[in-house]
Amino acid sequence: MQLREPALNCADITSCNGRPCEIEVSGLSRSFAKTIAVDSLDFRVGRGELFAFLGPNGAGKTTTINMLTGLLKPTAGEIRYHGDLFDPQQLRTKQLIGVVPQHNNLDRELTVAENLLIHGRLFGMCGSVLKRQIDSCLMFADLSDKRDTPAGKLSGGMKRKLVIARALLHQPEILFLDEPTVGLDPHSRRRMWAFLRRINQEQNCTVFLTTHYIEEAEALADRVLIIDQARIIAGGTPGQLKQSAGNVVLDIYNGDQIDNEFFAERSLALQRLEQLDTSVRIRETTLEDVFLQLTGKRIE
Ligand SMILES: Nc1ncnc2c1ncn2[C@@H]1O[C@H](COP(=O)(O)OP(=O)(O)OP(=O)(O)O)[C@@H](O)[C@H]1O
Ligand SMILES: [Mg+2]
Repeated sequence: MQLREPALNCADITSCNGRPCEIEVSGLSRSFAKTIAVDSLDFRVGRGELFAFLGPNGAGKTTTINMLTGLLKPTAGEIRYHGDLFDPQQLRTKQLIGVVPQHNNLDRELTVAENLLIHGRLFGMCGSVLKRQIDSCLMFADLSDKRDTPAGKLSGGMKRKLVIARALLHQPEILFLDEPTVGLDPHSRRRMWAFLRRINQEQNCTVFLTTHYIEEAEALADRVLIIDQARIIAGGTPGQLKQSAGNVVLDIYNGDQIDNEFFAERSLALQRLEQLDTSVRIRETTLEDVFLQLTGKRIE
């Protein structure tokens, strides 16, 4: 029997998912000596999208986010916001974006409110406007009762939320988050997902996050780009990515090995199942299956 060949493609990468284009990246590359960290990336992000950049350790996620936020100069390529070339020196562009780095960089000795105050001043905020924004961000992040607590005494999840609240203080249009949920337990991770959805929907913020958790990209993102070894290997909505692999998968148990076969429809998978005399499980395709199929390796 001829099995359906997976037809994974990157067709959706350069579209904006039917939205006005907010971020446009072309030929973006960065090398460190002989290491090519990011290799010729092309993609677009639409206004208001929740966009996930998914890849294993060392894939090039942080390098990409650092270039998108002006922390790192590209070796080649272009970044445009609203069609204009990105100039990290321009305050106007800096105010457009909020950044949550991979590692929390709070001042541990200062209180929660003081951490926000300093950030606000750096963005030229002051007086009652700054005070109102601090109150509002603390309330939004559910940290109002911690405002006088030194940041170093918060739990891991609270610290992460404070870094996000700080990034939202100057009301950016785009929020970049590098691995927002690393180190959080499963409950805190799910609470963080709900928080990120609220930021996307209630604050009308475009959210660009990196993650190496496949289920995070699957649960959260409107659109996912999969990056491996510095290059984009697939992109689209989670539904499109799964459909391109085949929506139904058979796990075929061969001794201590599990082989996967993918099918466009359940009926085709059931036909195949009848031909097999080993132990088989039929299930829906996940984004992890897509990743495994593309790279032949597990992400975590
Ligand atoms: N400052 C640097 N100097 C030299 N090499 C670097 C530097 N920063 C990153 N690299 C290399 O570039 C590649 C991509 O690293 P990057 O930090 O972007 O990956 P990542 O996808 O964010 O990984 P992780 O999931 O571990 O955070 C790696 O090979 C890394 O060693
Ligand atoms: Mg990283």
